[in-house]
Amino acid sequence: MKTSLKTKLVTSFLAVIIICGLAATVVGIHLIGDTIISQAQDRVRTDLNSARHIYQDEIHGVEAILRLTAQRFFLENAILERDTETIKMEFNRVRKRESLDILTLADETGRVIVRAQNPFINDESQEHDELVSRALSTREVVGATVIVAREELLKEDPDLAEQAYIKFIPTPRAKPSLETEQTSAMCIKAAAPVFGYDGSLVGVLYGGNLLNRNYKIVDKVKETVYQGVRYKGKDIGTATIFQGDLRISTNVKQEDGSRAIGTRVSEEVYEQVLVKGLPWIDRAFVVNNWYIAAYEPIKDIKGKIIGILYVGILEEKFMDMRKKAIVIFLGITLAGMAIAVITSGFLADGVLQPIKRLVFASQQLAGGNLDYRIGTFRGDEIAELAETFNLMASSLKERDEQLKEYTQQQIMKSERLATLGQLAAGVAHEINNPLGAVLMYTHLSLEEMEAGDPRRQNLEKVVGEATRCKDIVKDLLDFARQTEPKVEESDANEILERALSLLENQALFQNVKITRVFSPSLPKVMMDSSQIQQVFTNIILNAAEAVNGEGGLTVATRIALDGKSIEIEFTDTGCGVSQENLEKIFDPFFTTKQVGRGTGLGLAVSYGIVARHKGTINVKSELGKGSTFIVKLPIRREA
Ligand SMILES: Nc1ncnc2c1ncn2[C@@H]1O[C@H](COP(=O)(O)OP(=O)(O)O)[C@@H](O)[C@H]1O
Ligand SMILES: [Mg+2]
Repeated sequence: MKTSLKTKLVTSFLAVIIICGLAATVVGIHLIGDTIISQAQDRVRTDLNSARHIYQDEIHGVEAILRLTAQRFFLENAILERDTETIKMEFNRVRKRESLDILTLADETGRVIVRAQNPFINDESQEHDELVSRALSTREVVGATVIVAREELLKEDPDLAEQAYIKFIPTPRAKPSLETEQTSAMCIKAAAPVFGYDGSLVGVLYGGNLLNRNYKIVDKVKETVYQGVRYKGKDIGTATIFQGDLRISTNVKQEDGSRAIGTRVSEEVYEQVLVKGLPWIDRAFVVNNWYIAAYEPIKDIKGKIIGILYVGILEEKFMDMRKKAIVIFLGITLAGMAIAVITSGFLADGVLQPIKRLVFASQQLAGGNLDYRIGTFRGDEIAELAETFNLMASSLKERDEQLKEYTQQQIMKSERLATLGQLAAGVAHEINNPLGAVLMYTHLSLEEMEAGDPRRQNLEKVVGEATRCKDIVKDLLDFARQTEPKVEESDANEILERALSLLENQALFQNVKITRVFSPSLPKVMMDSSQIQQVFTNIILNAAEAVNGEGGLTVATRIALDGKSIEIEFTDTGCGVSQENLEKIFDPFFTTKQVGRGTGLGLAVSYGIVARHKGTINVKSELGKGSTFIVKLPIRREA
């Protein structure tokens, strides 16, 4: 089956559109996806900065409390007088007001004087503590994140040891660990020197807060950074503090809604943050949801990595955003594609409609309806084509009409000639026998007569006229002859030459200038040479008579333009033939010559001979200027 032009056009349009559409979609989706994810990552990076500030503020807050408490006047007296009761009372007030987990006073050597929560264990040095020794040596307030061992916690406050204790919860992607529990605590701690009236160092005050199960910082991050926004019932933003790789303070929730304390960070984050000390920003599966997460190490006062600070934004929101953006984008692309397809359809129709009309018109023409014309439309190349088509149709019609007329004439002519021929042959036959009898009896009478008989002259006239009649009858019979010519391969130039040489010497040709323009490469043609010679003789004689003994005759031979026949052309400068006679000159007995001079059979006989050779005779003539007779004979005679 052949595909229509429209299908081809539309499919190629479609192919282009689909390829472009697909390319745009793939690139677009990637761009949208990448943009949204990288935006989310930027966001989480700034969120981590905010979280770090909040965390630092917390350290500064503890430092400030200790500095202010250390400057209070009751302390110096109490230290000097070892008035532990007053200190304890005051400490408990401060501790409650500022919600401090630890608050302890030591003397200038680091020996503990009073612990707010544990009045029994005293007199023991805290000089080994990094913060305490730094505060004593620099006489400045120092604060930092520190790890506090269980024994220390027990000394400060047995409740703290319990708060710090966390049992590991198995976490699928965490780094495998032999330990199953966590007994130490991560604290934000500060130490401040205490000075006497004279400005001498009299002691050191230290205190701080446990981070284990203390949600103050992480919830503050959630509230300030994420304003507690929820998405589909889940908190958008989450924050976590890790001690090592263990979640000790978080607002990431487990399935049952409880905080995911005791779960651990994934191994890859462990390697990047805890081992290499680098931040980690990527999507991460935290407990039970995907987050766009940011992690960075938490270091102690010596710069050792002891934990991780984490913030994460629920990825679902961004995924939904991305989905929505992609749907919108796809919608636009699809709509564009649809519009392009429709437009291409219209375009194809625009091109094809006129072509269809042309095809229809051509079919009409081929079917013989030469009157069909295409209505004009638009002003482009196709309109031009239509115009040309109409022009072609017009000239076709004209030619067709001419051809019809010509054939009509030819048919009429040959029919007429055939009828006349039959008639003439019939008459000739009937006349031939009586004429023979007339001649025979006249000859007999002449033989019987004396030589000097006066009637003899009349009888000889009878013989002369009867002989003339016999000649005419013979011509008539020639004209009507139905027998096929005896053909053999002959050279038209040779036959012409023979005819001319017989005639040239006659008186009629004395002043006729004969020009020969013979083609030397004229092919031989199958023909009856004596009959054809008769044709040439008739035409040459007519020409000599037309120029009336003075003028020119040009005889030319050549191969016809179509290459399928030879042409013998006779052009004279004689009287020419009038328009009305031109149609009749091939009729038997048509003559313009005086009675006795012409019989009007020469051209009729010639016509019959040439026709039997499957050839034609044509005349062009102008009255007073001359005539041209063209005999055309086929080179190969088809059966
Ligand atoms: N070469 C010619 N120039 C002018 N008229 C011609 C020529 N040949 C033929 N005719 C015309 O055609 C007529 C018929 O010619 P044709 O059949 O040979 O008969 P005829 O020669 O006996 O008249 C002529 O009478 C003449 O009028
Ligand atoms: Mg003649």
